[in-house]
Amino acid sequence: MKRILSGMRPSGRLHLGNYWGALERWVRLQDSGEYECFYMVADWHALTTGYDDTKEFRQNAEDMVLDWLSAGLDPQKSVLFQQSSVMEHAELSLLFSMITPLGWLERIPTYKEQLRELSEREITTHGFLGYPVLQAADILIYKAEAVPVGEDQLSHVEFTQDVAKRFNHLYGDVFPEPKPLLSATPKVPGLDSRKMSKSYGNTIEISESVESISKKISRMFTDPQKKRADDKGHPDGCVVYAFHKIYNKEAAVREQECREGRIGCVSCKKNLSELLLAAMAPMQKRRAELMKDKGCVRAVLDEGNRKARDVARQTMAEVRRNMGLA
Ligand code: TRP
Ligand code: SF4
Repeated sequence: MKRILSGMRPSGRLHLGNYWGALERWVRLQDSGEYECFYMVADWHALTTGYDDTKEFRQNAEDMVLDWLSAGLDPQKSVLFQQSSVMEHAELSLLFSMITPLGWLERIPTYKEQLRELSEREITTHGFLGYPVLQAADILIYKAEAVPVGEDQLSHVEFTQDVAKRFNHLYGDVFPEPKPLLSATPKVPGLDSRKMSKSYGNTIEISESVESISKKISRMFTDPQKKRADDKGHPDGCVVYAFHKIYNKEAAVREQECREGRIGCVSCKKNLSELLLAAMAPMQKRRAELMKDKGCVRAVLDEGNRKARDVARQTMAEVRRNMGLA
């Protein structure tokens, strides 16, 4: 069976943007039975931009994995593990750094973008420049053949292919050249219609209570020109409608009703609340089950770390042998 690997930086509780951007797909790939799935908490990667504040690191990782499990990732089917528990990633990353020309790293678009965007932080570090080298090690140490990622990570997967090629050329065939598994994901706006993001405070979290979700939906940004139920509205810029498109099979009906002034925003939101809560109910149920056993996330990661380490060790033995190392 083909193996895939993907990772997420531990950002704590996940929101619906994270869910539809990646997690939902991870669950589908797992359940398709087509792949052996390795899913990783990329905590070393989080250090590249956030090394100065690590107090909540462990908590964030555990909160995130609890959301993974709530969303349907199943440790019986997938290997769920933590990067910092598999030291072999660091060794492979070091060895890759020896054969990676600096120019390859400097020309990666996300590097320059992030330097600009995060200009208030001191991230002109070795670790930050080397981010893709570590990511290549994450992927190649499991000889993953495919990497489910968003568009933003495409350059990192292509970089990984280049590293694999160069290694194989220098030391003999060890690594496959992994393909990116891209897919269109629905656009999830935040409550205020900007991108859903923790830093904007406009999120709905996977773990949020029913009351809190309903309240947030009632506060969602709609068409400001539609003041009364029978005013004709414009669904396009409306956050409620964007959510209908994701959660409502009959979104087209809502759209027509809105345009023709046959529905008011209050009922439109009420309808969305029902659909969203129904869609989230299975996750909330699983979460409630999981919460009964406080140690369950740790146990899942311990088991996953062991499985990941087994594979990583085998690859490293091969790498060292091919490179003439001990
Ligand atoms: N860089 C990825 C992100 O920020 C996280 C990540 C780390 C990753 N290692 C990976 C993704 C390996 C795919 C494969 O989203
Ligand atoms: Fe948005 Fe619905 Fe109001 Fe139209 S009726 S503006 S889609 S909330």
